[in-house]
Amino acid sequence: MPAPMIPYTPERLDPEEQQRRAREFHEEMECRRSVRFFSDDPVPRGLVELAIQTASTAPSGAHRQPWRFVVTEDPDIKHQIRQAAEEEERINYEGGRLPDHWREALEPLGTDWRKPFLETAPWVVVMFEERHGINPDGSRRNNFYVKESAGIAAGIFIAALHHMGLATLTHTPSPMRFLTKLLGRPDNERPFCMFPIGYPADDCVVPDLRRKSLDEVMVEVSKAPKPRT
Ligand SMILES: Cc1cc2nc3c(=O)[nH]c(=O)nc-3n(C[C@H](O)[C@H](O)[C@H](O)COP(=O)(O)O)c2cc1C
Repeated sequence: MPAPMIPYTPERLDPEEQQRRAREFHEEMECRRSVRFFSDDPVPRGLVELAIQTASTAPSGAHRQPWRFVVTEDPDIKHQIRQAAEEEERINYEGGRLPDHWREALEPLGTDWRKPFLETAPWVVVMFEERHGINPDGSRRNNFYVKESAGIAAGIFIAALHHMGLATLTHTPSPMRFLTKLLGRPDNERPFCMFPIGYPADDCVVPDLRRKSLDEVMVEVSKAPKPRT
């Protein structure tokens, strides 16, 4: 049955205000960095909850919202996550599982198998994608565009954390299957990515990376391409 239609009339901004907000948001997001050195200063649960609520405003295929945010501040669980992640990453970095082209791509970031931030950061949030839902009668309920939907929600989550002055890292220890068992998640969920959350350490450093310019990421198409001769 179609949902009832309700009015949607957000405020129409004047062009100057639009420019101001657009620039302000861009400048704010331009300052975001992935952090791998955290302080153990506490972060109120309410902020993490608000970031998850904000992420959950994301659009999703057929509005299925196919994501779960599994959160923990429990030192024991964080320790287990770190140990299991390091076990996998040690095989990647030192056991030759990472193909050369991947290792080369990671070189500028200075990362290795050690993941102390998984214990130092006050919160670890593991985002799961819901491959399919489950109806009340136990039957399978299809989800659509799960990866795209989860990716958009993850992006909004990261932006929300940054907006509230918190730092995070999108962390994907590979493979991530161990998280399903460790966190007791059902078969219809798969680990999507992991986010240690907190404040950067006082002596936090980040790699000096350059972001692509507008010209490199935007392509304008203003007329039909010439037909091939
Ligand atoms: C899908 C995804 C997976 C990532 N996985 C890892 C990871 O496992 N470990 C890590 O240190 N950084 C990881 N990163 C962070 C990237 O290295 C980082 O975003 C990139 O170097 C750009 O830096 P910035 O986020 O500070 O702009 C990941 C980022 C994305 C989007």
